[in-house]
Amino acid sequence: MPITVSTLHQMKQRGEKFAVLTAYDAAFAQLIDEAGVEVLLVGDSLGMVVQGRESTIPVTMDEMVYHTSLVSRAAGNALVMADMPFMSYATTELALANAARLMKEGGAQMVKLEGGAPRLEAVRAMTENGIPVCAHLGLLPQSVHKVGGYRVQGRDDAAAEQMVADAVALEQTGADIMLLECVPRALAKRITESLTIPVIGIGAGVDTDAQVLVLYDMLGITPGKRPSFSHDFLAESGSIAAAIKAYAVQVKAGSFPTAQHGFD
Ligand code: KIV
Repeated sequence: MPITVSTLHQMKQRGEKFAVLTAYDAAFAQLIDEAGVEVLLVGDSLGMVVQGRESTIPVTMDEMVYHTSLVSRAAGNALVMADMPFMSYATTELALANAARLMKEGGAQMVKLEGGAPRLEAVRAMTENGIPVCAHLGLLPQSVHKVGGYRVQGRDDAAAEQMVADAVALEQTGADIMLLECVPRALAKRITESLTIPVIGIGAGVDTDAQVLVLYDMLGITPGKRPSFSHDFLAESGSIAAAIKAYAVQVKAGSFPTAQHGFD
């Protein structure tokens, strides 16, 4: 059965966890889909892991549309979610036009954008136009130069309260799903329990409704140091297909991530 936004909402209501993995091309998209992963995220992380860039900032709309079209061509049942790249949603008009490209040309079924209160207008406009939206809070990689690095977010009380308020406002405005990146476990748990929409975590502890990892990190092929919240599933699985399957099984069982993959 094809996975839809309502499938994911029903899974949250039943307390059933789901798995999300990044994909950037057709071959991997097919393997991930066949492993039973519910959502394929065409992440702008492709700028770093595929293109070898320092950050996600140089990734263009054309590149996102291209990679999304490769993934959606091979996706079977999994829902395809595509990242809106840096500055592609800086105004409501841009957000609508670029989300439409990801859906019409790329075949995406949902788009993801980074940020809290400043994104409410774009999220409302997308919702009113039938565009499913995932709102991304916590560490926002497209703001790396503004915040001065890749750091855990929401550690002090004021930042934590702001994140909870942003999450609630985004849900009320129409966001269909939330993604929390590099957030202390207790804060991620609080946000997950405060929202009716599903919350996907990465470096956010085990209590979110779903988990996502960057594909190349969980296969251990990202050059340099692997993020501490990730895990090399290929090292213990023997094949790429088995590694992806192990990830999906462990996420759904709640056995990945463990305490060592999160932050206090
Ligand atoms: O671009 C991406 O792959 C992402 C994940 C890290 C969540 O946004």
